[in-house]
Amino acid sequence: MKGVILAGGSGSRLFPLTVSVNKHLLPIGQKPMVLHCVDKMVESGVTDILIVTNPEYVGHFSMFLKSGKNFGCNLTYKTQDHADGVAGALLVAEDFVGDDNCLVILGDNMFEFDLKKEVSEFNGDCHLFFKSVVDGHRYGVGHFDGTTLTELEEEPNDVTCAYACVGIYMFGHTVFNIIKGLSMSDRGEYEIADVINEYISIKNISYSFISGFWTDAGTLESYRLANENMYE
Ligand code: DAU
Repeated sequence: MKGVILAGGSGSRLFPLTVSVNKHLLPIGQKPMVLHCVDKMVESGVTDILIVTNPEYVGHFSMFLKSGKNFGCNLTYKTQDHADGVAGALLVAEDFVGDDNCLVILGDNMFEFDLKKEVSEFNGDCHLFFKSVVDGHRYGVGHFDGTTLTELEEEPNDVTCAYACVGIYMFGHTVFNIIKGLSMSDRGEYEIADVINEYISIKNISYSFISGFWTDAGTLESYRLANENMYE
């Protein structure tokens, strides 16, 4: 299993904090945001990790994380030349992943859950993680028929209580062909929800619910919450 941390995007919801600093290098507790993701990958046994970020910030990440040796992993860096969405960023990882499977973490997702069990049991299709939330309109949310996941809806209007699809995914290498078949959404991005809906349509999907603290840290309020809960 290879690891991919997506750390591009504009970070516009955190302006002005992110005008001159990449969001994923902002501090959460005692360390930069990206190191929480690296540590979670290493804890799960995934140590060959790619960091995808904007061209102007690659050097900032490598200045801090270097080869990864100090953090128990082997790091590679690649650029996403245009912020064309989460799935667009993942496509950058195609050669790095090769014929392996990949554990993908969105670099602003801060969580306590230990991924070890799911990583060791992954069957090579698509595995998702969900968490019950009260602000469902901020996330991709799952629709279920009993225990069957029938659709992932991206940021539905007016939804409060829902199961949010957490920014942690496991994919087989088939994911790259799916991304290459996508069209851009109305907001000009290749959407991870479209990738997931394709896996749902071919019924190659499994999921778990995560326990413990989780938030993305992409808004001022959730960034504050992450700092309060992720001190270490
Ligand atoms: O946090 C979980 C949510 O993350 C999921 O529930 C949604 O389904 C998923 O689309 C995503 O939604 P967001 O609106 O929060 O995504 P955002 O644009 O904030 O991007 C999340 C991370 O992905 C960000 O920290 C960096 C990375 N990213 C994003 C974009 C748009 C990239 O590396 N490149 C990009 O072009």
